[in-house]
Amino acid sequence: MFDLVIKDGEIVTACDRYKADIGISEGRIAAIGTGLAASDTIDATDKLVLPGGIEAHCHIAQESATGGMTSDDYRSGSISAAFGGNSCFVPFAAQHRGMGVTETLDLYDSRAQGSSVIDYGYHLIVADPTEKVLTEELPAAFQRGVTSFKVFMTYDLMRVDDRQFLDILSVAASHGALTMVHAENSGMISWVSDRLVAAGHTQPRYHAVSHPALAESEAINRAISLARLADAALLIVHVSTPEGAGLVADARMAGAKIFGETCSQYLFLTRHDLDRPGMEGAKFMCSPPLRDEATQEALWRHLQAGTFSVFSSDHAPYRYDETGKLANGPDATFKQIANGMPGIGLRLPLLFSEGVIKGRITLQQFVALGSTNAARLYGLDKKGSIAIGMDADIAIWDPKATRTVTVEDQHDNMDYTPYDGMSVTGWPSTVLSRGARVIENGALIAEPGHGQFVARSRIDLTGHPGGKVPELDPVTNFGARIAP
Ligand code: URP
Ligand code: ZN
Ligand code: ZN
Repeated sequence: MFDLVIKDGEIVTACDRYKADIGISEGRIAAIGTGLAASDTIDATDKLVLPGGIEAHCHIAQESATGGMTSDDYRSGSISAAFGGNSCFVPFAAQHRGMGVTETLDLYDSRAQGSSVIDYGYHLIVADPTEKVLTEELPAAFQRGVTSFKVFMTYDLMRVDDRQFLDILSVAASHGALTMVHAENSGMISWVSDRLVAAGHTQPRYHAVSHPALAESEAINRAISLARLADAALLIVHVSTPEGAGLVADARMAGAKIFGETCSQYLFLTRHDLDRPGMEGAKFMCSPPLRDEATQEALWRHLQAGTFSVFSSDHAPYRYDETGKLANGPDATFKQIANGMPGIGLRLPLLFSEGVIKGRITLQQFVALGSTNAARLYGLDKKGSIAIGMDADIAIWDPKATRTVTVEDQHDNMDYTPYDGMSVTGWPSTVLSRGARVIENGALIAEPGHGQFVARSRIDLTGHPGGKVPELDPVTNFGARIAP
């Protein structure tokens, strides 16, 4: 007997789809077969039974360097994620200058513990790579199961220079951690921004102008070069341009340990959304900024071709009020408005509707992009697939359910959604986390605190050979050996 059986659904993994029952015992998948029985069953007739989504880029209970707090905490953020078909998420734990890394992780533990309805981990943001951070605290974070570190190449209070970036890449590589990077050229952005503001072009729409595509491709090229010098694994997050995606694809073809991510906003919104009256465009400000329709099409091609390993929401919720977007008043310039927009509950439904239903990607690609690849890339060993022994993290989807997006349906702590009014086909109806119902038929069942911290393992770089550049290879550099 099992604790729970999901009956008569169509199971979909990153490679297969077939009809079968799933037997769950003690939070794990114990059997896959036909005619399985238990006193507790879920009827999944005419439904798709998928690995629960893994949202691996979201900002939850996170202060920006200037002190603004995201509107979602681990309770509201995880609930919204669960309603959107996710059973696990990995928000950021942001070190700010002057803070230690251990102190940062302790702080985020206090924010997450007892609050989340789904399992979680953190990516550590490193903004102050002191000697102590590099030699003691990053290795300790890795031991704690925080195996991915994000750096910024832009934002004055967060960015690291190339040498610091190399130090972080090198420490990460020696522990099997993955470095993630926000790749935009800081000088290009501030140079254009200052000229726009001086000329009186201060409205939100000029945010898009102030972040040229070239600023992204220059920084991605530099980031990839630094990763290749350190022979380290690097994920370029929120890629927003075909040029940037092309650089990721070329590096992957060359065998470098490079991975790419794109996000909902770059496929489903455009910079024309910024062009709304008054300050309304602020709702659509994020960095990198929204681009154009041709870019959307090009990014779909890269998604189809496998350039991007993961697809994320980059949920960075700042309300359209004085706690968020309007913190600097109604006349603030685009430079003074918080970057980021919400979308944690819509990442998977939008990708399902626009991707699977419209025939752009297969169901298996949907599973890979929304769950499996993140599990493998980020070392969530027991998640991301439906197989015996895996955590019973499962999302049951109704592929025919149709809804129009509203802010009320998001279950987050936001007062707007940038996807308002969009028509979406295919919704998750029930979500399980380690066999427990989190959402059932559209209602929240789990209590805050059900979600547990997941210690993650090292990145598996099989198939990404990398290699030393000639100058750092003792075979070709006159025998010089240098410490990693
Ligand atoms: O504008 C954005 N994406 N804000 C969130 C922070 C980041 O850079 O990911
Ligand atoms: Zn970023
Ligand atoms: Zn982000």
